[in-house]
Amino acid sequence: MNIDVVQSDVTRVAADGLIVNLFQGVTTPGGATGAVDRALGGLISRLIAAGDLKGKLGEVVIVPAGEPIAATRLAVVGLGEPGAFTLDRVRQVSAEATRALRARGARRVATIVHGAGIGGLDPFEAAVATVEGAVLGLYRFRRYRSERDEQEVEEVLLVEREGDRVAALRTAARRGQILAEAQNLARDLQNEPANILTPRALAERAQTLLTPLGLRVEVYDEAWMRSKGMGALLGVAQGSAEPPRLIVARYDGEVTPAIGLIGKGITFDSGGLSLKPAEGMELMKTDMSGGAAVIGALAAIAQLRPRRAVVGIIPATENMPGGRAQRPGDVVRTMHGKTIEVINTDAEGRLILADALAYAQELGLRPLVDLATLTGAMTVALGRVRTGVFSNDEATLQALLRAGERSGEKLWPMPLDEEYAEQIKSEIADVKNVGGRPAGAVTAAMFLKQMVRETPWVHLDIAGTARAEQTKGYTISGGTGIGVRTLVHFVEQLSN
Ligand code: BES
Ligand code: MN
Ligand code: ZN
Repeated sequence: MNIDVVQSDVTRVAADGLIVNLFQGVTTPGGATGAVDRALGGLISRLIAAGDLKGKLGEVVIVPAGEPIAATRLAVVGLGEPGAFTLDRVRQVSAEATRALRARGARRVATIVHGAGIGGLDPFEAAVATVEGAVLGLYRFRRYRSERDEQEVEEVLLVEREGDRVAALRTAARRGQILAEAQNLARDLQNEPANILTPRALAERAQTLLTPLGLRVEVYDEAWMRSKGMGALLGVAQGSAEPPRLIVARYDGEVTPAIGLIGKGITFDSGGLSLKPAEGMELMKTDMSGGAAVIGALAAIAQLRPRRAVVGIIPATENMPGGRAQRPGDVVRTMHGKTIEVINTDAEGRLILADALAYAQELGLRPLVDLATLTGAMTVALGRVRTGVFSNDEATLQALLRAGERSGEKLWPMPLDEEYAEQIKSEIADVKNVGGRPAGAVTAAMFLKQMVRETPWVHLDIAGTARAEQTKGYTISGGTGIGVRTLVHFVEQLSN
């Protein structure tokens, strides 16, 4: 999709869909919307007076246009209450409006930047968010549909009247496009079926996606893992006919130490011998969402070029119940020598992360951020709205929470008191891999904390937020690409 900025009077931009906006409670529109209203002889004001347009958040009213305005179709999108307006609402309304125009067959969409006028938002950030919303909202996964009769939007244009603002807006538009396309890339990986996106395929995708952007990507096999003593990762992998891979991607910034981004890469989680129930098991193809977020974030980082160095690590394997599968009760040893009693083979995410986190420490990466669809208990705690965040370091936690505020990805800090360690004490090993029903997301995080030891670290349990059941705003049903934009903002913050 082509994204650009055009310098034009809003009434003179040629498009088959022009998006303007309206706050709730406004009876006579101002700004760019007002200019369009006047050109069309008060059409928008009449829609408001008739009660056919209210300005409610996400409401989209589409009417035919044409001379005296150059766009053939007009979409007015509601911005909701002026006092409650945010950058994330910009993303939402931009997504709803562009998607509504696509449904009417529009190929060339022009839009004003939402929220920079009476919305009071920073115009540069509002422009980034307008583009993010459009690109994220138009996403769909169509790889395996034979009938390709659907119409796509080919071009999104930001309209700006003042010539001296065009250059800054172009930079903003490019940034929004990079961030949103990186998130869509993560969504593509999540939505791939597990027979296609095997650990080897995921490693290949990382290489073909990231190497052209200037990153160095290394892919390690089982023999290498054995030489490193990665017994926890190998234990999970041994039940599968598909061999595991460890993916390491490096971005060389001038500021060191490099930040470590670690993503859980289970390409399919059957549960192993502690087999999951059949219902909903198909959703476990998205158990590599953490890995997808790391690949997406690195794609954006390669293009936005922050000063801080970054290394992404993705342990990739299936979790299958084959004849060689690990058994409940097995004891495995991590690369850094910790022994783990595997009580439940379905608690495999923390096992593969144990070795990935150990390797991140060997590389001297700091701080560490891991993302994982780790526990069903996380979804019980926070549902599909917020991602739970756990940490062993207050400053790193605060930086990550700030990054979440900038990205609009909702986070919530979770506790990690030492008392929770009681639940994962093993009779025969250093630790066991399950802590019982109470506080399941916390004991999983506590397990990771023990693997991290002294390095500053943040863990995001994205089990509830990696997948959406419904399309709304810029969220599309299926893989959400959660984490990508938060990670990029986090790295940028730690670059200064
Ligand atoms: N990948 C799952 C967690 C999950 C469940 C993610 C549902 C998304 C949706 C993870 O590997 C898992 O199976 N966790 C177990 C841990 C338990 C055995 C301690 C769980 O949450 O049931
Ligand atoms: Mn599992
Ligand atoms: Zn899993």
